[in-house]
Amino acid sequence: MELYFAPMEGVTTARFRRVHRELFGGADRYYMPFISPTSDHRFTPRELREVGEENNAGVSAVPQILTKSAGDFLWAADGLAQMGYAEVDLNLGCPSATVTAKGKGAALLRDGAALDRLLDGIFSRAQVRVSVKTRIGYGDVAEFPALLEIFNRYPISELILHCRTRREMYAGEVHYEAFELARRESRARVCFNGNLFAPADVAAFRGRYPGERAVMLGRGAAADPALFRRLRGGPGASREELQTFHERLYAGYREDYGGVNAMRRMKELWGFILGLFDGGEQLRRKMMRTEDTGVFEDCVADVFARLALRDE
Ligand SMILES: Cc1cc2nc3c(=O)[nH]c(=O)nc-3n(C[C@H](O)[C@H](O)[C@H](O)COP(=O)(O)O)c2cc1C
Repeated sequence: MELYFAPMEGVTTARFRRVHRELFGGADRYYMPFISPTSDHRFTPRELREVGEENNAGVSAVPQILTKSAGDFLWAADGLAQMGYAEVDLNLGCPSATVTAKGKGAALLRDGAALDRLLDGIFSRAQVRVSVKTRIGYGDVAEFPALLEIFNRYPISELILHCRTRREMYAGEVHYEAFELARRESRARVCFNGNLFAPADVAAFRGRYPGERAVMLGRGAAADPALFRRLRGGPGASREELQTFHERLYAGYREDYGGVNAMRRMKELWGFILGLFDGGEQLRRKMMRTEDTGVFEDCVADVFARLALRDE
C-alpha cells in the first residue's frame, strides 16, 4: 500500500520533507502544504523556495493549491508544470475561518454550483493531473453524496478524503460510511485520510479495507517521524536520530527565517513530537510559552538529556 505524508501548513516544509526523507524515509510521496495564488500571478520568494526543484530534489512531492478561482489555479498549475510537476492538488478541505471567510478551502463544499463551476474551469484546461483533497461536507456528512456526484463529473486523478466535515475540524470520529460510499461510487481512485496515528491503526484499516491502494497520514507522522519506516517493518526513532532531526531542521530554519522564527517553526513541530517522550508534558508548557531562543534550546537539551523515549 502506498503511504502519503499529508500536507501540514507550518510543519511539512521543503526543509522538513528533505530531512525527514534522509533520516527516516518510508513515505512514498509528500503532499505539500497549500500555496494560495493571488491575482497578480506571481509566486512569492517563499513559495518558490517551497516548490523549487533544488529544495525538492529526490523527494516525491505534490504541490497543493488553495483557491476559488479556476484562472488562478490554472496559472499556478502551469507554472508548477513548467517546474516539472506532473500532478497538482486542489485543496477543498482547509477549515480555518480566515480561509473559509474568503470562500476557499472547505467553504467550496457549501455551494455545489460554485464547486461545479470551479472544477469545470479547472478541468476544461488543466495540462497536469489534478487530484483533490477534500472533506466530506461543510456542516453535515449527509452532504457527501451530492458532492461525490459533482466530483464524478471530472477526471480527478485521485480523490483524497479527510472523512470529516468542516464543522468537525480535526476532532472526533471519522465517517467511514462516507469513505465506503466513495469506494463504491467514485470515478476517481480514492485515498483515505484521518486518524491513522500508529501502525495498529493502519493494520486495522487494512483489515477493514483489504486491497486499498493508498492512505495518507498527517499528525501521526508529525508526532513520530519514524512512523512510515515502522509501517514498512523498520525500527522506531532513536534518541540520536531525533536529535539529529531537530538539529538539522533547526539549523535549516535559522538560515531560512532567522532565530526567532526558526524557533517558532520548531515549537510547532515539538508540539507533535514531545509525546514520544515520557514526561514530555511537563516541559511542554515551558517550551510552548517561551519566545526566547535560549530558553527554547535549553528545553530541547533537557528533553534529550533527561527524558526517556516511550516504548511505543
Ligand atoms: C497543523 C496542520 C496543518 C495542515 N495543513 C494542511 C494543508 O496545508 N493542506 C491540506 O490539505 N491539509 C492540511 N491539514 C490537514 C492534514 O493534511 C490532514 O488532512 C489532517 O491532519 C487529518 O489527517 P491526520 O488525522 O492523519 O492528521 C493540516 C492539518 C494540521 C493539523
